[in-house]
Parts: sequence; C-alpha cells; structure tokens
Amino acid sequence: MSEAARLNAILEREAPALAACLSDLGRRVAFPQGIPAQSGQAKGTEINATVGQITDGRGSPLPLPALADLVPGLDRRTAFLYSPQDGHGKLRDAWSTRQRSLSQGSTAEATRPIALHGLTQGVSTLADMFADPDTTVLLPTPTWENYYLLFGMRAGAKFATFPFFAGNGFNVQGFADALKKLEGKKCVIVLTFPGNPSGYAPTAEEAAQIVDVLVDHKGPAVALVDDAYQGLIYEPGLMARSMFWDLAERADPDHLAVVKVDGTTKELLFFPGRIGFMRFAANEAVDTAMTSKVKCVGRGTVGSPPGPSQALVLAALENPELESQVQSRIQLLAGRYKALKRELASQDTGGLSPYPFNSGCFALVGLPKGLDPHVIRHRLIDDFSMGTIAIPEINALRVAYCSIAEETVPELVNRLAKSVR
Ligand SMILES: Cc1ncc(COP(=O)(O)O)c(C=O)c1O
Repeated sequence: MSEAARLNAILEREAPALAACLSDLGRRVAFPQGIPAQSGQAKGTEINATVGQITDGRGSPLPLPALADLVPGLDRRTAFLYSPQDGHGKLRDAWSTRQRSLSQGSTAEATRPIALHGLTQGVSTLADMFADPDTTVLLPTPTWENYYLLFGMRAGAKFATFPFFAGNGFNVQGFADALKKLEGKKCVIVLTFPGNPSGYAPTAEEAAQIVDVLVDHKGPAVALVDDAYQGLIYEPGLMARSMFWDLAERADPDHLAVVKVDGTTKELLFFPGRIGFMRFAANEAVDTAMTSKVKCVGRGTVGSPPGPSQALVLAALENPELESQVQSRIQLLAGRYKALKRELASQDTGGLSPYPFNSGCFALVGLPKGLDPHVIRHRLIDDFSMGTIAIPEINALRVAYCSIAEETVPELVNRLAKSVR
C-alpha cells in the first residue's frame, strides 16, 4: 500500500466527510521520504551531512554580518536556517496556545497548527486538497475576490453564491437555501467573519444560526473558516470567538470537516511577514495524515515557511506586552470605525447608502442607482485624489478605513459625497 493510500484509509475511518471531499490531488499526496524527511530523522547526529545549507560546521548558521547585524535580537537558528516544512514547533505551539486563549475555553479537538506562507497559502493548499472541477465552493456576494483565483485558477472548481446581506445583517436564510441546494454534493463552504469586503461580523444570534445550518448539513462538505480579521471587532453583541470552535464542538465528522486558516497578517499587523497557519477540527490520527498531505503540497509548491518571520513572531508571542499592544491597535481602528459611522450618518452624502459594517477593516458604501462604481472610482482618483475599490456586484465602493487616520475620515466622506453629486 502506498503512503498516500495508508493516509487515505486513516482519513476514511476517522474523518469520513473530509476523506470524501479530498480532490484527486488530495488523495495522491503524502510527504515523501525525501531530503527534509531524511534530514529530520538525522536531527541530533554528530556529523549531519543532510541538508544543503551552509553552516559553521557544527549545526549553527553562518549568516553574513550584513544581514545578521540588522536583527541582533532574533534567534539565529530560527532566522537563518531552513525551517521544517510545517514550521517551527515552538511557534506552532505558541500560536495554538494563543488561539485557544481566544476560544473562550473551548476543549474541542484541534490539530497542531501548520505554519504557512500567509493565509493565502493556507487557502491555496486547501484548494489543492479539496477542489476539483466537480467541487462547488460556496461564497457570499460580495466576497474576497481572490477566492475565485484560489479555487478556480488551477483546480477549476465551480462556484455557488448567495447575497451576503439581508436587511441590516447577514443573510442567514440565503446562506441556508444556497447550502441546501448542495446537499449530497462535494462542497467547500467559505466562512470569513469579519468579512472582506463586507467589514461585517455576524451578531451572536446570527452566528448561532449559521452554525446550526452547518451542523444540520448532511454534506459531505468542508467548512473553511478564514479568520484573517479575527479579533477586529468594534461593537458589543457580535460573535464572541472564531466560528471554528463552535463548529469543532458540534460538527459531525461523518458530514462536515472543519478547518481554520488564520495568521499574523492582520491579527498581529505583520502584513509582509507571510506567516499563516492551518488546523483541522480533528483528532491526532487525522493530524498526522493531514499534516503529511499539507506538507507535501507545500514542499511541491512554495517550500518551507520563512525563518526570519517565524523568529519574529515567536519572540512576539513570548512577549507579555503583546496582547496589550494588539488591543491598542484595535482601539485605534475602533476610533476610525466610529468616525466613519458618525460621518456617514451626519454628512449630506448625496444618496450614498452604507451597507452594515461593524468589524474588520472595511466598509461598503452603496452608490446611488445608475452610477457605475468604476466610473466613480476613477473620478475619485482623478478629481478628488482618493483611492477606493469598486465592488460592481452590489454597486458599491469598498473603503479601507483601517488605513485612514481618524481625523481624515470626515474629509474622506466629504469627497465620497462630492464624487456622486
Ligand atoms: C479574507 C482574507 N483571507 C486571506 C487573506 C490573505 O492573507 P495573507 O496576506 O496572509 O495571505 C486576505 C487578505 O487580504 C483576506 O482578506
């Protein structure tokens, strides 16, 4: 039996929905007994002549001072030697501990986080692992546009959509109806809360309803919780933790596989650090099988995750000041958020109609009927020196208020209003 077949048998036994959703590629992959595996086995040997990296001859790195002198505080081995394909163990465990601490005491089973090149590689790996031309990916409209590339470009998956908003909130009924149509079909359900471009996180009540819908779904399906904007919440009464934990506690592995992709990009404001993580709501046997498969895809595409970034993030996670620093950034964003809410409500905005927003980085501002969002976007650039993103699906502009100073927000709204007059 091949190693991949052995892993598939484990998954079929321990995580039937996950196994049923594997793509052709997902079924074929298993981390090979190549250089990284052989070098891992030789760890601790006296004379280790496995990996092609230039060291001092005794296992320590030999970085050029021109590089190393710039980062004297970083752990040199982490920063300047190859990382394991799944990331450094200490970092993976420190991230896991932080995520548990944000889970409100969940004791649900979750695999050890695998480190990745940002969340994008997480979603891309899941697309490799679960998407084929006969897979449907369920997305709201609007959604983060890159999901279409990630699942469509190489895997050629199909897409099903439903309108994100209904009235003043998330379209739970539309979501439930769209999911019902996928009953019995292999599908990946993308859950991004707070959302991009929506800037919306479900209320606690909506979140409970979404979880109920998912738990009742017969599948086989994969629920992909994209937690890129985790923690950026500015209103009371919203979902209190990542939906991953609610699903991990309640989903039946015969019907629904649950996976969380998160990372330091927005959560720790480390945008170019390219450190993301992936973990499944599953037991140790599934952990071993899926980690082998995810490592294989990583090895066969982008290689191991960056060392300097892992060293930085590990040091940050060990810093007792980290959480208060994160909170102070969230407070800064909350100030910008409140200013935007206030200005959109108080200025004469010439018929602009904001969609509900309560979290994350963005607000969607609907344009008066008949106006083309790309035309207005260009007008804003040319006549008002202001950049926004057009969201034609709902005739709106996406405003990334996360990067606008609070005192600039009134002028931002003023220019938006002028552009549609
Ligand atoms: C919803 C969502 N997921 C994932 C990502 C990608 O994150 P990363 O930069 O870590 O690849 C983004 C980035 O904008 C995003 O908005």
